[in-house]
Amino acid sequence: MTKIEMFTGKGGVGKTTMSVATALQYAEIGKTLLISTDPSGSLSEIFSRPLDTKIYTVAPNLDAVELNRKLVLKLWREKFSEDIYAVLSSFLPVGREIIDYIEGAPGIDEEFMLDYLLTMADSGDYQMIIWDTAPTVTTLNLLFIQQLFYSHLTQAQKLYFKVRKVFNKVDPLELIETWRLLTERIIELLQNDTRAWVVANPEPLPIEQASDIADSFNDFGIKVEGFILNKVLPKELCQGHPFWQEKYNAQQKCRKKMQLKAGNLPLKEIPELIGDTQVDGFLREVADLLQKSD
Ligand SMILES: Nc1ncnc2c1ncn2[C@@H]1O[C@H](COP(=O)(O)OP(=O)(O)OP(=O)(O)O)[C@@H](O)[C@H]1O
Ligand SMILES: [Mg+2]
Repeated sequence: MTKIEMFTGKGGVGKTTMSVATALQYAEIGKTLLISTDPSGSLSEIFSRPLDTKIYTVAPNLDAVELNRKLVLKLWREKFSEDIYAVLSSFLPVGREIIDYIEGAPGIDEEFMLDYLLTMADSGDYQMIIWDTAPTVTTLNLLFIQQLFYSHLTQAQKLYFKVRKVFNKVDPLELIETWRLLTERIIELLQNDTRAWVVANPEPLPIEQASDIADSFNDFGIKVEGFILNKVLPKELCQGHPFWQEKYNAQQKCRKKMQLKAGNLPLKEIPELIGDTQVDGFLREVADLLQKSD
């Protein structure tokens, strides 16, 4: 059974860094897929190759893909557009341009990202999927859209019963039922097989958002595995320098808030490091630190 580990949090806090570091580590144990659903994701830069057209193997046992809007809509068309057209054209005088119209509907790309995640989990190809998400708001939208989609389908079913007499070739009810089951399975996947790490920096806003996102996930039934406080200034580097000492003190206040929020859940801490994700060794260092703070 494929497990999913997702990294979420405010923009720029270190979600991608934690995702890649964790993915590299899991790849040492079993086949791993790293998926980014951030529309402005940076996996391609990190692995120095385009990952936004299909899945590529980026390291031994590690595949990666960046689901940007263009790729998602292409995959969506391949999978759903014919069915949708069959349903709509059976009771509305519409041409194929209706597919372009639906494709432009808000939420279609987010909706399909989750379908893609489910397909990958069901493929059985991977032991672990690491999911690098877009900043907080987009990720929350994604989850709510999933719920909305569900209620839209219920409406679709009602509509079907009203107009069923005019159907001839296709049985839309069957299709609607497949979509409903799909939505149900996506929700199940999120609730049963997905664990979330909420990443924050020791600053007021990221901490606040981390706290909100953890609450939303709890409401939605997604397990919050723990928190990661990233870019913590080391005490010894700040001592004796008034500017850094003050910054350190401010961070410690935020750190206390994070500890309070985490309660019994694990809170991993990663210091501010030299270098960045594209530099060799940086991600290994983060991976080691994440493991050490287990
Ligand atoms: N502990 C750290 N020490 C120093 N630099 C770090 C640390 N963690 C991350 N960074 C750097 O901070 C920047 C932002 O990190 P990252 O891209 O992982 O954040 P993100 O949450 O994925 O951002 P976005 O919301 O834009 O996707 C990157 O340049 C990364 O290399
Ligand atoms: Mg990122």
